[in-house]
Amino acid sequence: MPRVRLGVLTGGGDCPGLNAAIRAIVRKGVDGHGHELVGFRHGWRGPIEGDWFDLTIDEVRGILPRGGTILRSSRTNPLKRGAGLERIRANMETLSLDGLIAIGGEDTLGAAQKLHEAGVPVLGLPKTIDNDLNGTDLTFGFDTAVQVATDAIDRLHTTAESHNRVLVVEVMGRHAGWIALHSGIAGGADVILIPERPFDIDEVCTHLKRRHERGRYFSIVVAAEGATPREGTLATVGGDKDEFGHERLGGIGQVLEREVESRTGFETRATVLGHVQRGGTPTAFDRVLATRCGIAAVDAATAGKWGTMTALRGTKIELVPLADAVASLKTVPPEDFAVAEAFFG
Ligand code: F6P
Repeated sequence: MPRVRLGVLTGGGDCPGLNAAIRAIVRKGVDGHGHELVGFRHGWRGPIEGDWFDLTIDEVRGILPRGGTILRSSRTNPLKRGAGLERIRANMETLSLDGLIAIGGEDTLGAAQKLHEAGVPVLGLPKTIDNDLNGTDLTFGFDTAVQVATDAIDRLHTTAESHNRVLVVEVMGRHAGWIALHSGIAGGADVILIPERPFDIDEVCTHLKRRHERGRYFSIVVAAEGATPREGTLATVGGDKDEFGHERLGGIGQVLEREVESRTGFETRATVLGHVQRGGTPTAFDRVLATRCGIAAVDAATAGKWGTMTALRGTKIELVPLADAVASLKTVPPEDFAVAEAFFG
């Protein structure tokens, strides 16, 4: 195999498992293939601004269990920055890079696909706590986020029961409700609200009242941050937009707290888990998935398989076209939601 020089970056929201992936790329790249690696800082900002460092075996020692990313991250969109593409090309040439490995979600990999179309040798690794990337059964980061949310729901159960309260838990997931669905099922939620299924506040209250009629005086509602009321029946708060056009969300928990309490008369409290879900040490599952993706990515780069993404398909890691992965979001199918619905109310 030819010896190559590769650049690595992590873009978008961070997630547990990024360091495990970086470590795998470096260990296999350097020890296995004899490659040289360069780490770009702050996502796409690194190759645009030429912000880099040598990614050596020493740099990745001890990072396997660490959350976050030693490369740092940002939501920089290279196609929205003046001459972003040209500057990436120029910096790659200056550094004599043969290709880039981009670790990211829909935005980072969507940009990678555009760069690939423009002739930049790049391939991707799928990460996001949201699990909403197509082409792969799971993204690393998701398992950890679900575990964090499930632990929180377990804790909220005991205080909800002590006070006969409804506790609303707002979790991340702006376009897809995977975290809400999985943590809600694992944590025994009484109602789960996801973006894919606009909710009717009256139905939510009916479920909660039914529980009370059956002698259960506390309830847990898990809501994805992107959950929306059906036909705009309830006002929710919008926020600023980032470079990829995404609104800053958060607020549905508070809306539900107010509405559930006033419509049912049950004392209600909301908890917003927020970035707690993205922080801290990855689960064993995420460490293994990230490691397998890292190894597959550096092997794919060695073989010049640009324009691809490593993907978990069943139990195997395969390569899929980046274009397929970013063409649309992977949302929760109705049959998965039906599993959760069986426990509502
Ligand atoms: O990275 C995905 C994600 O965690 C989403 O679930 C959430 O909506 C968003 O990032 C939050 O972004 P930021 O950290 O930029 O506020």
